[in-house]
Amino acid sequence: MTNLVDKFGRKVNYLRISVTDRCDFRCVYCMAEEMTFLPRTQILSLEEIHRIANAFVDLGVKKIRLTGGEPLIRRNVITLIEKLGQMPMLDQLVMTTNGSQLEKSAPLLKQAGVKRINISLDSLDPERFRNLTRTGDLSQVLNGIDAALGQGFDSVKINAVILKGRNDDEILPLIDFARAKGTDITFIEEMPLGNISEHQRDECFMSSEAVREVISSRYALNPITHSSGGPARYYRFEDSASKVGFISPHSHNFCGDCNRVRLTAEGRLLLCLGNEHSVDLRAVVRSTDDDAVLRQAIVDAMGLKPEQHYFDLQDEPQIVRFMNMTGG
Ligand code: 5AD
Ligand code: SF4
Repeated sequence: MTNLVDKFGRKVNYLRISVTDRCDFRCVYCMAEEMTFLPRTQILSLEEIHRIANAFVDLGVKKIRLTGGEPLIRRNVITLIEKLGQMPMLDQLVMTTNGSQLEKSAPLLKQAGVKRINISLDSLDPERFRNLTRTGDLSQVLNGIDAALGQGFDSVKINAVILKGRNDDEILPLIDFARAKGTDITFIEEMPLGNISEHQRDECFMSSEAVREVISSRYALNPITHSSGGPARYYRFEDSASKVGFISPHSHNFCGDCNRVRLTAEGRLLLCLGNEHSVDLRAVVRSTDDDAVLRQAIVDAMGLKPEQHYFDLQDEPQIVRFMNMTGG
């Protein structure tokens, strides 16, 4: 039973941790081309992350997702993952990664106790992939996906962001890729996080509805009625074990059963992806060794969790932080 309940009666039992704001990719919807990353003294040490994670698990959090930036490029991150994997009260240790380091890391992650891995993949064309990620190497990521599949995780899932005019012709190829590999795939609507100048977010916006229509032109999709608890709505094919999910922050308000909070690389506890409400937990861990004080700060923070997000593509972004800061 979680001790973390917000003003609206929502139980928080899921923590997402951005272990670094850095990434080896520069995806066009996530980052500006020239990014300034945080100096080391400003980001939480691995020990500080572990201490905060412990406090959350003591308070009843059952699931932790490690994200970034790219979590696997943080030096020695595996030592943190091993410690988290050994926490008896934590049910689910999971990760979101761009896949670039997975070929060598997948066995270590499995051994350390990671249960499920989400891998971002927006294109199956090497040149296009390079374009969308600015630096990424598709073959490295595909090898990473195969390495993860070879480890027998509880699930390996693909995440794709579709931009009109950029990769909307890859919806069906990505679907066929997922079906061939036997993985689930989730399409995420682009969110206006951070100021980017590379494309007009409103012009490239592709709704989940539009993506689903493209898929339905080839495959019958049957909605799965029971909710998995998260923001995604899932569909099933008639002839494949793969499921298709849609995360639609623009058209579908899933805030009512939100169960999650996010810890940024610099130790800010974000109460909502679409709002700036936050509490500086780095200041707390650097000012006291008393974990009771830390736990109380976390309990108190729940009072700040906003009721819902609001995204409007035409407005100036209300959220100036980029996704790599936020912990995708
Ligand atoms: N909107 C939607 N999804 C995004 N991601 C990164 N930035 C954005 C954005 N602005 C996705 C990545 C990855 C996950 C961590 O978040 O593609 O799959
Ligand atoms: Fe890196 Fe993920 Fe952002 Fe792409 S979306 S730049 S892989 S953090």
